[in-house]
Amino acid sequence: MPIILTGFMGVGKTTVGRILANKLGVPFVDMDYYIEARQGQTIAEIFDQIGESGFRLIEFQVLTELLEADENASIVISTGGGIIETAECRQLLAQQDQVFYLQDTFETSWQRINRGGRTQNDRPLVNANSKKQMAAKYERRIPLYEEASNYRLDVRQTDAHETAEVIIKMG
Ligand code: S3P
Repeated sequence: MPIILTGFMGVGKTTVGRILANKLGVPFVDMDYYIEARQGQTIAEIFDQIGESGFRLIEFQVLTELLEADENASIVISTGGGIIETAECRQLLAQQDQVFYLQDTFETSWQRINRGGRTQNDRPLVNANSKKQMAAKYERRIPLYEEASNYRLDVRQTDAHETAEVIIKMG
């Protein structure tokens, strides 16, 4: 059964997911990287070419494929922060047993987004929106993450290793 991580950009889904998969000795899929490899384009290029709605469609297709392929398999999947924007994705996630919503404050997530290993260009929504608009997005999405997830983890006080341990204990 897959373990799925959700949460806003910059909360550390990819880092936690990689550590968690390592600790459990199971495969790890980061959906953004998976989509880039599948499409042969960066997320920014996909947004440029087919817009956010086109990207959301691909995201839904990939989530469907991953869940069908891995229905009974042990795997860790880190989703993109906006996956919960799509009602069909929320429904698919809500049917899973182990979906963890990682939550930090907007400010901390924002700092990570802007200092992170990936350049700003990798996150087209950050380039297209002001900090205030991103904060509004963060607030608007909270109930959507809650709807799609079984567990909410406050990661303000825990580093990625500790968060992975908490998930193992809860799962
Ligand atoms: C998005 C988050 C990104 C990526 C895309 C859109 C969003 O993933 O899927 O840029 O709408 O929040 P990360 O959460 O991995 O940055």
